[in-house]
Amino acid sequence: MNGSRPWWESAVIYQIYPRSFQDSDDDGIGDLNGITERLPYLVDLGVDAIWISPIFRSPMKDFGYDIADYIDIDPIFGTISDFDRLVAAAHARGIKVILDFVPNHSSDQHAWFVESRGSRNNPKRDWYIWRDPAPGGGPPNNWLSEFGGSAWEFDPTTAQYYYHAFLNSQPDLNWRNPQVVEAMREVLRFWLGKGVDGFRADVIWHLIKDAQFRDNPLNPDYHAGRPPNEALVPLYTTDLPEVHDVIATLRRTIDEFPNRLLIGEIYLPVERLVAYYGRDLGGVHLPFNFALLNVRWDARCIQSLIAEYEGSLPEGGWPNWVLGNHDRPRIAGRVGARQATVAAMLLLTLRGTPTIYYGDELGMPQVDISRERVRDPFERNVPGIGVGRDGCRTPMQWEAGENAGFTAAEPWLPLANDWRSNNVAELRGDARSILNLYRRLLRLRKETPALSVGAYRPYAVDEDLLAYYRELNDERLLIVLNLTDRPQALKLEEGAHAKILVSTRAERDGERVPGIVTIVGDEGLVIDLASR
Ligand code: NOJ
Ligand code: MG
Repeated sequence: MNGSRPWWESAVIYQIYPRSFQDSDDDGIGDLNGITERLPYLVDLGVDAIWISPIFRSPMKDFGYDIADYIDIDPIFGTISDFDRLVAAAHARGIKVILDFVPNHSSDQHAWFVESRGSRNNPKRDWYIWRDPAPGGGPPNNWLSEFGGSAWEFDPTTAQYYYHAFLNSQPDLNWRNPQVVEAMREVLRFWLGKGVDGFRADVIWHLIKDAQFRDNPLNPDYHAGRPPNEALVPLYTTDLPEVHDVIATLRRTIDEFPNRLLIGEIYLPVERLVAYYGRDLGGVHLPFNFALLNVRWDARCIQSLIAEYEGSLPEGGWPNWVLGNHDRPRIAGRVGARQATVAAMLLLTLRGTPTIYYGDELGMPQVDISRERVRDPFERNVPGIGVGRDGCRTPMQWEAGENAGFTAAEPWLPLANDWRSNNVAELRGDARSILNLYRRLLRLRKETPALSVGAYRPYAVDEDLLAYYRELNDERLLIVLNLTDRPQALKLEEGAHAKILVSTRAERDGERVPGIVTIVGDEGLVIDLASR
């Protein structure tokens, strides 16, 4: 079906937050052997690739996004042999494995940083970003950390400051230093050599900072209740032109191995985002498109964002869509349980590679975390304004037994309180569940090239209905999504012999539709227009 297309164009990616997927050794924290155990579930679900958030050696200040050794597995998650077994088992089942690459910063426990902070003239000094205090004392400039406070930490041993875009235990590496670039290319080669199918690169638009260390300008739109770093426009700290050369180098490393994928985590407006495909598409293959994470849940807004995105893609640039991740509130929390099914249909019928966040296929809710159970350092540093990420990282809900089948111990984060009824075992047995909707959509996507790689064409806009065609050769599908809880109707073009392939309400699957299709509240339909 996909001829000469790269595999990821027709693939569906599933993000696993490893601490929360499946615990195999009863320490309350998910691990690699847990993921291996659950591969049959992922096959049954019908995804093609898993992206696993960081599993490398780490003091876990930012739960693995603070890496102390890029080429070792953290004992919490298992061993290198567990990892090799996971890759082999996934590949045997036709599932690709994508790792998380965290190039922007390491842990302060990394041997590189330990050496770097040891003296001003050690060989690793320039692997990180060290500056003298400002002339009158204090931090070198006004740059702010994403996780609150100054981005500069004073280190008494050498009386200089180091830069950290996130926690002070996450010093930023100096990507202007060619030795850093080469060391990181070796890290990529290490994992590629083990057979991993690609990487999702963390905060890749952050890698290069202003060489002159100029102050960031004030953000005139800043208002209280937003994270404090947003008080400045990150003009001199992110999205610098030189970052594209660094990314092109990383891409060339990826291309040393056949069929490997490079995804970039990039939070930028569409027009700047698409620059990350790179000159002649030599940047990341997929700059993560996070537009759906923030959009107002209304047909016009979503249709215009799709149009803007489709219209901005460079020639040959492949689109992608994300509905949730480990940093943002769960979709079911944002739009409600019923609209979550419509959102699922949107994600899996748009043109481009979808990434499903673990548990969203169960409609897992956004969980309120009590103050004592907060684990996220972002929430601890910047409390009370809703930045906490624990609520979207709660354990996967497998069954109605103890701790939802996630662990035999106390789970590291509390379970959502719907787990006794809302879990894989229960939903798998209910033909009308959201889990089975995901399964049906994933199967349809696999069987219907128009859905994975066909063209996208919008249908007439309506306040409440979002409708679009997906077309390839003689396959013609119409997707109709009711973004309200009220019934709607849509007139189909004359002469169509239309049939519902998948409805968010399973009982309508296979129904023939006359010239006017009715859509009940919170319903989505994939309609086959070419069927006779
Ligand atoms: C982005 C990751 O997704 C997030 O979880 C992490 O805290 C920051 N990068 C810092 O690594
Ligand atoms: Mg464990």
